[in-house]
Amino acid sequence: MNNASWLKLGQDVIMKNVGRLPVVFSGASGSKLWDADGKEYIDFLTGISVHNFGHCHPDITAAITKQAEKIVHVSNYFYMEEQIELARELAKLTGLKNVFFANSGAEANEAAVKLARKYGKVKLGGKYEIVTAAKSFHGRTYGALSATGQPKYQESFQPIVPGFKYAEYNNLDAWKEAIGENTCAIMLELVQGEGGVNPAKPEFIAGLVEICQEKNLLFIVDEIQTGLGRTGRYFAYEHFGFKPDVVTLAKMLGGGIPCGALLVNEKANVFAPGDHSTTVGGGALAFAAGLAGLKLLQQPGVLEEVRRKGQYIMDTWESWKKEIPVIAGYRGLGLMLALELTVPSKPVMLSCLEAGLVVNAVTDTAIRILPAFNITIEELNEGLAIMKEVLKEY
Ligand SMILES: Cc1ncc(COP(=O)(O)O)c(C=O)c1O
Repeated sequence: MNNASWLKLGQDVIMKNVGRLPVVFSGASGSKLWDADGKEYIDFLTGISVHNFGHCHPDITAAITKQAEKIVHVSNYFYMEEQIELARELAKLTGLKNVFFANSGAEANEAAVKLARKYGKVKLGGKYEIVTAAKSFHGRTYGALSATGQPKYQESFQPIVPGFKYAEYNNLDAWKEAIGENTCAIMLELVQGEGGVNPAKPEFIAGLVEICQEKNLLFIVDEIQTGLGRTGRYFAYEHFGFKPDVVTLAKMLGGGIPCGALLVNEKANVFAPGDHSTTVGGGALAFAAGLAGLKLLQQPGVLEEVRRKGQYIMDTWESWKKEIPVIAGYRGLGLMLALELTVPSKPVMLSCLEAGLVVNAVTDTAIRILPAFNITIEELNEGLAIMKEVLKEY
């Protein structure tokens, strides 16, 4: 079957809960994708920061394959070796102490919300409010959705979970106002992903750290998109020189096999048996893929390469400015980048796709890219050349 017939079938049977683009992918390797017609695409999106070492990386594929023959799942009544090993690696990288594994980012954040409420109950005399950022994105389950400071995601699903306040990102005064006598925690991304790739300002984060210390609040950082190298550090909080109490992870964590994680320090370690759980919670395939991914991430020079390639892309965009008047600016950290346009981004994304480049229209006027850390310079240049040719037409 070709792309068009697969597409027709897909549009019939797949729920229209997402605005999917008209491509059916059937193969992938590294930073290349192939659709059902065999057309080749350069991938600048990595499944939204999931395949950070490219599609079907041989080490990750081998880890999953080997694990599938060893053990896949027991139940949450027991431990598994790979689960313990991955938790140890994450604890080592973050300096945080304990890990809960979930199946997705939303579930990791759902667990973080419950943890914050329990922390408020047992350590702060019943405080329960969580302050999050306007334009944030924390996922689609009810707790994570309620933490998400974007009305467009919440409107059709009211009433949402009570006990959340939203404050303007990078506006410390707004947070000082929102943090009240019932606040037990704050939760935010350090570079907002779905909100448009908006990096936090260091003085804003320093101010929040101070408030959390003063009031003994939990500082929860959602590193689901920024974590595990994406910003050119293992975790985005390293750019800001502080250590959160709670970190959530997902996306790259399971190398494409669903997996999320909640990491806590001693102060935040308040869950007791029975408080929270899930049957699979990632599972051994995800843990094995995660261990292989962390090994790749910790190879010498990887983080430098992320920073170098990110700078290279921004320098390239800068050099286009004179020639391409629709470029309004660019922003980001490491290989988490957005190009701001003076024209709508969706037609640009569709033209790129048509020309063989996968990018994302993250806001009405911004194109987001999240390339693989190991994308070759040839692939990067090929993708940038497609983008340039497309933008020249606008
Ligand atoms: C910062 C952030 N948090 C949470 C999520 C939700 O993760 P998932 O889609 O795995 O549920 C996302 C997904 O894009 C995200 O970017």
